[in-house]
Amino acid sequence: MPRTDAPIGAQHFVPADAHELDELKAAAAHCRGCELYEDATQTVFGRGNADARVVFVGEQPGDVEDQKGLPFVGPAGRLLREAVDDAGIDPGSVYITNAVKHFRFELRGKRRIHQSPGPTHITACRPWLVAEFAQLKPELVVVLGATAAKALLGPSFRVTRSRGQLMPWPASAQHPEDFPVAEVQALATIHPSAVLRADDRDAAYAGLVEDLKVAATVL
Ligand code: URA
Ligand code: SF4
Repeated sequence: MPRTDAPIGAQHFVPADAHELDELKAAAAHCRGCELYEDATQTVFGRGNADARVVFVGEQPGDVEDQKGLPFVGPAGRLLREAVDDAGIDPGSVYITNAVKHFRFELRGKRRIHQSPGPTHITACRPWLVAEFAQLKPELVVVLGATAAKALLGPSFRVTRSRGQLMPWPASAQHPEDFPVAEVQALATIHPSAVLRADDRDAAYAGLVEDLKVAATVL
């Protein structure tokens, strides 16, 4: 039977009185806000310090991240670290997380093939992102790819059209009131996985670094 019910959402699992990212992470391990927890290995929460100057938001954990329980530790993560370094951003000043905290995949034989999260998963998981931002006070938010853009900037935002531009955020979000945080600068760019998939990988990588250099100007 196909599922027709909307997910109940992560808001039922987010501790209202959390004072630390670690409390959120511990609670997120038990989240059942949507069905993605059923097949994934574990929740992959954000990583970094509460005093990070930059917050990177990706899509969802990949295969490696799902097994290790940490964001951006697979091939896309390796590429992102390289790009962060080439853009002159201090990796020690970064908090990194995802719009959706469980790996969504399709089983083909024994292989787990990445499937992008749908709008219901992005909406269901967003309370974790909101809760993370409530503990963080970055100067800059870097939005990696379309899924993170949907979660942070709204469904009509187009990364290809508006990448590499600094914007005041959450003012530029579709519903800024969803993020009760101080105004910061945000910049959207392509997802590092898109660089790995690109026909002209060198050009795609150079574009990513160029965008991140724009982001770095506010630091
Ligand atoms: N891609 C993402 O968006 N996030 C990860 O953590 C890994 C790959
Ligand atoms: Fe909860 Fe998000 Fe995992 Fe869904 S994807 S179960 S909302 S943590």
